Amino acid sequence: MSSQTVEEQISPEQIRHEVARRRNMAIISHPDAGKSTLTEKLLLYGGAIQQAGSVRARRAQRGVVSDSMKIEQERGISITSAVMTFEYDEKRINITDCPGHADFGEDTYRTLAAVDNAIMLIDAAKGLEPQTKKLFEICRMRKLPTFTFVNKLDRPAMNPFEICDQIEAQFELPCYPVVWPIGDGDRFKGVYERATRSVHLFERGERGKKAEEVHVIPFNDDSVAELLGDELHAQLLEDVEILDTMGNEYDYDLIMAGELTPMFFGSAMSNFGVELFLKMFLEMGRCPPAKKSNTGLVDPDAKLFTGQVFKLQANMDPKHRDRLAFVRVFSGVFEKGMKVSNARIPGKSIALTRPQSLFAADRYTVETAFAGDVIGLNNPGVFAIGDTLCGDSSKKLSYPGIPSFSPELFAYIKNPNPSAYKNFRKGLNQLLDEGAVQMLRAKGDQGNEDPIMAAVGQLQFEVVQRRLKDEYNVDSKLEPMGYNVARWVTGPGDPWEALEGCGRLFNVFYAKDQWGRPVCLFKNEWSLNAVIQDHPNLEVAPWSFAP
Ligand code: G4P
Repeated sequence: MSSQTVEEQISPEQIRHEVARRRNMAIISHPDAGKSTLTEKLLLYGGAIQQAGSVRARRAQRGVVSDSMKIEQERGISITSAVMTFEYDEKRINITDCPGHADFGEDTYRTLAAVDNAIMLIDAAKGLEPQTKKLFEICRMRKLPTFTFVNKLDRPAMNPFEICDQIEAQFELPCYPVVWPIGDGDRFKGVYERATRSVHLFERGERGKKAEEVHVIPFNDDSVAELLGDELHAQLLEDVEILDTMGNEYDYDLIMAGELTPMFFGSAMSNFGVELFLKMFLEMGRCPPAKKSNTGLVDPDAKLFTGQVFKLQANMDPKHRDRLAFVRVFSGVFEKGMKVSNARIPGKSIALTRPQSLFAADRYTVETAFAGDVIGLNNPGVFAIGDTLCGDSSKKLSYPGIPSFSPELFAYIKNPNPSAYKNFRKGLNQLLDEGAVQMLRAKGDQGNEDPIMAAVGQLQFEVVQRRLKDEYNVDSKLEPMGYNVARWVTGPGDPWEALEGCGRLFNVFYAKDQWGRPVCLFKNEWSLNAVIQDHPNLEVAPWSFAP
């Protein structure tokens, strides 16, 4: 048997090949737009699941695929991000599931830091919804190529031009419809594919069936007018003319920069338009790109393994009380059992013995992984969000941290039962480690006052309280604070000195984050603006990077 490691056996060509065939995506949407249904249909094409309905059915039964905790099952929402992988047309696709609930934030944002493409899923009857906007802003900040899938065309829908206008006006994101819907609701006839000038006809099929046979005919075929009916045919002619003469032009560079969104229309439930979308996504979607580090750009097909922890999770399997760190691979070959360094803890080498791939709760061991993949590592407390892992400890390589997002809700979390103090602290510390919420303390607190939980949405508080109860068997009480805006003091020099130099700020609560850095809490935006106006030299930011 060869004594070479897998890493040594794999040639540079193989690495390049593996990277080039990888595409990953996160689907962002408002609850109920059809994300589970679309995910399930995409997995069906890859043969990753055998029967449609299983993502949603299993979710309902045990919360297996997208959702893994009790609170999610009860509320029918997806809180934790699982990663699903499948192969299609010789490509390997990773879907990182993003929580879509309006009240849930941090996790979704971090997930978006680990993917190379975003899919914005929109309910055709509702158009843009508020939560989609918040998520989209993160995509924009990260310059993620964003694809739009307008779903539920089999139901009465908004005018497609109106949906484009909404995206262009509210997100300032120009659209490029790759396909265009023909009718909607009972009169939904299919889509027109612009590149091939052909019509894909919709046939109401059995819901959940695998791929429907789709009939594709050239738009100029004599039968088209009859098949669509005069009215829809005339409408389509007019729409196509408008798109071709007044619409945005296809521009691949703009798509890659996240400044033009390719648009698709279909019906996930009836499995119409999904395969066409998948094919086009594989063609147009971004493959794992080079990644900026402190030592310059790192090529995804470089031999050296590097990755970054973007999510931590405790107790995914309550029977084992395990803790997992999710790592996005950015370069090289990951090999089971390999030793890596963690840029945050110099000099320590960590053996990655039980790497896992997660199909939510179904886990299998990963032997090798390449740039674009996500692996789950057992975390005996050595990994934190944003940590850079590297296969060569002499390299001192690290990637920029993953920002924590500006919390908007603040509450003291109290332990009502003094005898449970130890468990309360343990549970809280582990959940805070995961980054389920951020924890602040009052400026002068030496660790004996109640900690302040800071969240993006109310649901984050509920999740922490519920998990304290379920996983650590402790009760907790929340005492909301009347502050709604947080700003980290930044700028050169000591931030505490900069803050003190301003004198006592009116109506501002002085807190510190888990690294002891100053965070100011304001009652509202107005109060923040008043302070900024009075102290133009005070530099503040709405979020922070882990140091
Ligand atoms: P989510 O993960 O984004 O929250 O949405 P999910 O897939 O659970 O879908 C929400 C509802 O929308 C489901 O109906 C689902 O069947 C329906 N749906 C999804 N895609 C389509 C589509 O293309 N057309 C139509 N007409 N409906 C669609 P439900 O009533 O909540 O559940 P069920 O009774 O269908 O299981």
